Amino acid sequence: MRLRNRIQIKTDDQIRTMRRAGLVVAEGLAEMVAAAVPGATTGELDQIGRDVIARHGATSNFLGYGAEWGIAPYPGVACISVNEVIVHGIPGERVLKDGDIVSIDYGAILDGWHGDAARTALVGEVSDEVRELSEHTRESMWAGISQITPGARIGDISAAVELSLESHEHPYGNVRDYTGHGIGTEMHMEPDVPNWGRAHRGPRITTGMCLCVEPMATLGDEDNVTLDDDWTVQTLDGSWSSHWENTVAVTEKGLWILTEPDGGEAELRARGVPFGPLD
Ligand code: MF3
Ligand code: CO
Repeated sequence: MRLRNRIQIKTDDQIRTMRRAGLVVAEGLAEMVAAAVPGATTGELDQIGRDVIARHGATSNFLGYGAEWGIAPYPGVACISVNEVIVHGIPGERVLKDGDIVSIDYGAILDGWHGDAARTALVGEVSDEVRELSEHTRESMWAGISQITPGARIGDISAAVELSLESHEHPYGNVRDYTGHGIGTEMHMEPDVPNWGRAHRGPRITTGMCLCVEPMATLGDEDNVTLDDDWTVQTLDGSWSSHWENTVAVTEKGLWILTEPDGGEAELRARGVPFGPLD
């Protein structure tokens, strides 16, 4: 691996290892999404995430996170953020109800390499407004990912996410206090990948980079508060929110979505973006 402008550049073999970490993340997320039904607790979902990590001999990059900066070490392997909680919801006794929206953010380390992704699950029957919030947040993630190509800039991702979120009749809140990031031998690495900003600005993207694109949107304002537990971030106006994230590798052939079971093939092809898995 080389460091280029402080951004970690991976070899093909390192990206293959990150793919194995990404598949653990994808599997855990799928199981947690399936278990997000009325009556389940957020703590039960976290336990499913723990079981999947253990089954694959992986470790958690979330558990204990933050200890080095003197805040409460993160106590789960997943962040489970229900309704008005935007991100970093701590799993516990909260019981999911019919109609809830729950963002599940989860990561794993395999052989020293990290994966990180988030999905939004709809609990039972949700309102059209809430279903569209999740669909539109997911769409903005793919709009941002679709800008990733060697020679493009990080600002191209940011502008595309922002434009996508703003392209709907509903005026969504775009949560600008949290960003995507580079990923590799650590979960959070350079560069920051903001969900708003100007195209043609910021670091240039090259083959061998791995980036997490992770928009967070609300049905109301983006303004938020972090609770006394040091983690839970919720909207000030109580509006509900959605969070989607994938870990994306830039290969010689195109993009490889390390945290999607199909490597992103279906979504990339639908958008005319080169699909570039490594053998
Ligand atoms: N995975 C989150 C992100 O997408 C960060 C989680 S913070 C942790 O960047 F403490 F829970 F790990
Ligand atoms: Co992330």
